[in-house]
Amino acid sequence: MTSKIAIVGAGMTGSTSAHWLAEREIADLVLVDIVEGMPQGKALDLQEALPVVGKDVSVVGTNDFAATKGSDIVVITAGVPRKPGMSREDLLTINAKIVSDATLSALKYSPDAIFIVLTNPLDTMAYLAMKIGKLPRERIVGQAGILDSARMRAFVALETGVSVENIDCYVMGGHGDEMVPLTRHSNVAGVPLREYLPADKLEAIVNRTRKGGGEIVNLLKTGSAYYAPAVAVAQMAEAILKDKHLIIPASASMQGEYGLKDMFFGVPVQLGRNGVEKIIEYTLDAQEKAALEKSAAAVKESISVMQGLVKI
Ligand code: 2OP
Repeated sequence: MTSKIAIVGAGMTGSTSAHWLAEREIADLVLVDIVEGMPQGKALDLQEALPVVGKDVSVVGTNDFAATKGSDIVVITAGVPRKPGMSREDLLTINAKIVSDATLSALKYSPDAIFIVLTNPLDTMAYLAMKIGKLPRERIVGQAGILDSARMRAFVALETGVSVENIDCYVMGGHGDEMVPLTRHSNVAGVPLREYLPADKLEAIVNRTRKGGGEIVNLLKTGSAYYAPAVAVAQMAEAILKDKHLIIPASASMQGEYGLKDMFFGVPVQLGRNGVEKIIEYTLDAQEKAALEKSAAAVKESISVMQGLVKI
């Protein structure tokens, strides 16, 4: 492989990201974690699985960032996950330190890498990583929108019985309970969801999407979702390495788009080899704008709490 991806944090999300990425055969992989033996064991297990699926990818597990040297992409999953009863914001204090350290350590060995951040609270952690690493806006993006939109697509498919391939959904805003599933832009084979589904069913899907992360945390009890967040990483990394110019919902640095500045927020983003190439601005109606303002206020509040904790 000519490309290399470092995954920081070899817990459930990090190791599952490695799994989905290895299947795509787009880059060699390095899993880094502070726990001794764990990244090495998971990497070796995955390496030994790849002959079965016929994928030629090197998978290395390590406790030493030096092994990540020259990575094209760095995926930050390190941090603690939620437990039942916790919001993503409850993770802020502990994860801010972990994300700061991870970003600086990774940058030392891969100064030109593009960063994909997953650690929660997502928009705040992506903002922190950009600031602490002094990264240009195009080289850092937060993973959340593909996940939230995929959840919505799954719920629409379950409700309608239509193939997920016919269902396009777009969720914007912060990766929290105020996120904004866009029912006007989402559709089943081109038919807007608002026309395809009765209002009560659609409202139930919107609410379930907003609370989708919490639904899984309450079921798992010991951690949060990882299959869907991890496959979203694989899609983003592939879009970057293959220079696909793929438009996906993701958390990006706002510099005036949607009237927002100095924060990360979930918006439609075009991804290519240079990272974030463009932010697409939808024309929104008054109701959608109001919902996004509410979501933006929640992210701004989280960022201001973080700024009280970390000097950036
Ligand atoms: C989720 O929504 C972990 O934030 C992630 O499941």
